[in-house]
Amino acid sequence: MVKIVGIFRRLGPIGERFGWNREFERGAWFSGERTAIMLQLVEQYGANRRIVELGCGDGSLARRVVHVPHTSYLGIDVADRATATASEINDPRYSFRTCSMQNWHPDGAFDLLIMEECLYYLGAKAQDALLERAFAAMAPGGIAIFSVRDAEKQKLTLDRIRRQGPIVQECGETYRKYLVVARE
Ligand SMILES: C[S@@+](CC[C@H](N)C(=O)[O-])C[C@H]1O[C@@H](n2cnc3c(N)ncnc32)[C@H](O)[C@@H]1O
Repeated sequence: MVKIVGIFRRLGPIGERFGWNREFERGAWFSGERTAIMLQLVEQYGANRRIVELGCGDGSLARRVVHVPHTSYLGIDVADRATATASEINDPRYSFRTCSMQNWHPDGAFDLLIMEECLYYLGAKAQDALLERAFAAMAPGGIAIFSVRDAEKQKLTLDRIRRQGPIVQECGETYRKYLVVARE
C-alpha cells in the first residue's frame, strides 16, 4: 500500500496528491483510533495552545481532542479527500487546508505543532526546510509533538527532530516513538 504512494510521489506534487487521495479512497488511512500516548500528549500540551497539525489526514486525531481547551486547530494535508472528511468537524476552532507540507508557509503564530507519522514521507532536504520553517514560526514557549513509526528505519528523521531543540519528553516502544521538542 505504502509502496503505491511511493511510486506516485516520484511523479511530483500532482502524483503525490493523487497517490494519497487514492489511499484515502481505498479507506486505508481512515484509521479512527488514536494511540493512548498521543491523546495523552495532546491533553498535556494542548491547553490554551494554537495547534497546527501537518499531515492531519482525515482529522482522526483532531476529532478526538475536541475536549482539550485549545484555542485553534489548523490541519494541513496534501490529500483533499482527507481534508474534506476532516472539515466535517463541527467546531469553530477547527480549520483544514489542502496543501503539501513543502508548500506550507505559516501565516500566523502557533504554539503547538503536531506531526504524526508523516515527516518521513518527505526527502531529507525537504524535511530540514520544513522543520526550520516550522520552528522559526512557532511562538516562544512553543512545543512540537512528533510520532514516528518504525523508529529503527526512520533513524535519520529522528536525529533530525532531536536537533530542533531540547527534548522535553520521549516515550513509546522501539517500533513507534513519540518525541516532544521545545522551541529553543
Ligand atoms: C501515514 S498517514 C498518517 C495520517 C495521520 N497523521 C495519522 O497518523 O493517522 C500520512 C499522512 O500524511 C499526508 N501527507 C503525505 N505526504 C504529504 C505532504 N507532502 N504534504 C502534506 N501531507 C502529506 C498523507 O496524505 C497522510 O494523511
